[in-house]
Amino acid sequence: MTQKDYSAYFDFSTAKVVREQDGKTTYRIKGREITINAAPSYKDEKRRGKEDIQVHYDFGIPEDMQAFGEGKRYLVVTYGCQMNEHDTETIKGLLEQMGYRATEDREEADIILLNTCAVRENAEDKVFGELGHLKGLKAEKPGLMLGVCGCMSQEESVVGRIMQKHPFVDLIFGTHNIHRLPHLLREAVFGKEMVVEVWSKEGDIIENLPKKREGIKAWVNIMYGCDKFCTYCIVPYTRGKERSRRPEDVLAEVRDLARQGYKEIMLLGQNVNAYGKDFTDRTYTFGDLMDDVRKIDIPRVRFTTSHPRDFDARLIEVLAKKGNLMEHIHLPVQSGSSAILKAMSRKYNREQYLQLVRDIRTAMPDVVLTTDIIVGFPGETEEQFAETMSLVREVGFDGAYTFIYSPREGTPAAAMADDVPEQTKRERLQRLNDLLTDLSKASNDRLRGQTVEVLVEGESRTNPDVLAARTRTNKLVHFTGDRTLVGQVVQVRITEPQSWLLRAELIREPQRNAI
Ligand code: SAH
Ligand code: SF4
Ligand code: F3S
Repeated sequence: MTQKDYSAYFDFSTAKVVREQDGKTTYRIKGREITINAAPSYKDEKRRGKEDIQVHYDFGIPEDMQAFGEGKRYLVVTYGCQMNEHDTETIKGLLEQMGYRATEDREEADIILLNTCAVRENAEDKVFGELGHLKGLKAEKPGLMLGVCGCMSQEESVVGRIMQKHPFVDLIFGTHNIHRLPHLLREAVFGKEMVVEVWSKEGDIIENLPKKREGIKAWVNIMYGCDKFCTYCIVPYTRGKERSRRPEDVLAEVRDLARQGYKEIMLLGQNVNAYGKDFTDRTYTFGDLMDDVRKIDIPRVRFTTSHPRDFDARLIEVLAKKGNLMEHIHLPVQSGSSAILKAMSRKYNREQYLQLVRDIRTAMPDVVLTTDIIVGFPGETEEQFAETMSLVREVGFDGAYTFIYSPREGTPAAAMADDVPEQTKRERLQRLNDLLTDLSKASNDRLRGQTVEVLVEGESRTNPDVLAARTRTNKLVHFTGDRTLVGQVVQVRITEPQSWLLRAELIREPQRNAI
């Protein structure tokens, strides 16, 4: 008997146990040794325990790994959301503390990590496609270390598939044990075997992990995980239960980033306004946190993503104070039909969402709202889709991320009967996107001739003489100007509004203390 039963992953006719030691099991499968320290389980990922989350402040790279990467290059490819990108910054920070340096060139890299996303099938397909390419590279350069991490690693079926079909991978780790990278790398390199360590249960909060940030904007995690369990969504399984960082740790990080000269902070969480609900020793909400961040001398503060259900009056009151809090709210609605919202288990209905929008607009008349929408949820009728279209019109969103529903194994929606043809789903997406483009164009047209405050973020992608900037409402602005303006808050006049871009001209030199 093995210490743990990993039969879900294997075709056991070809797998043999070669070693059992320290709670780890090493198998030989088709000539490749694979040591499993821990593997994901949907059943455990669904559990929400009551035990307290510990916070650790004593992270350090093990001494024998501190120079391990000297003279070597790394490449991390990121597939997911901002949370995932921020995890990549941590992974890069860890690799750099081990002496590795960055490269963009796959052929030059000594270690390539794929930080994956599981939210929709097409995100997963891309990763398997990339693994196919990397197989050749690994054959030419056997010393190359290949790793898969992020949300896909938290899926049972993915780990099984990699072990059987992509045995040249050296390392699989998940979203809860990123800090274990130096240890796992050591095991994989010296053991010359594939190492799998994916925790099904969320870990503690590890403070003081190194982060490699770039540019003038910085992400700051305020909480991890999600307890909402929307029926279509894999995130609560891949990211574990909601855990909030302590306010003093978040505020210290924001203050430190302000001192370092960052111009914009994006507070991150799957559900930022559930912040603080898990504190047992105090009452401190997301509204309270925003009110404290507002007092820090940093030009701009944003947050993503807020859930309509947890958007309370205190938060609206604080956001209405503006200052460095921007008047843009990304407020995913998912559908305009109360019946579909119920099937999605979003825990609000159409009327409640519209009422929330009215409350926000009363407090902040100039707020810009953007959203996420899923079309083609199982059983969505033409009438229900029409309700989404009418809600989008009624709210007047300035933008939206729109998706065709993608069934995710292990989620309740994946078992729901779905009789909506693929072609119909694609047509609905197209109609919705056309409407959103019209709404954005109409909203941008109203800005023609107006003077707006923008933060200059960098040169535009296509022309170095043109600067790319963002309004307080997060709209992209292009104007001609000197690159010394990057990082400054300046006033521009909108000359040529387009659907997704505002062309403008600089009207004033930067205001020194403007926020
Ligand atoms: N925590 C955030 C969003 C996380 S995922 C929130 O609740 O708002 C980002 C978006 O992906 C979701 O808002 C949803 O619109 C979309 N999404 C999630 N699961 C999906 C699925 N199975 N199929 C299609 N889109 C999905
Ligand atoms: Fe997914 Fe819903 Fe959680 Fe957002 S709130 S991450 S959509 S389960
Ligand atoms: Fe994807 Fe995981 Fe983010 S599933 S959307 S990378 S939380």
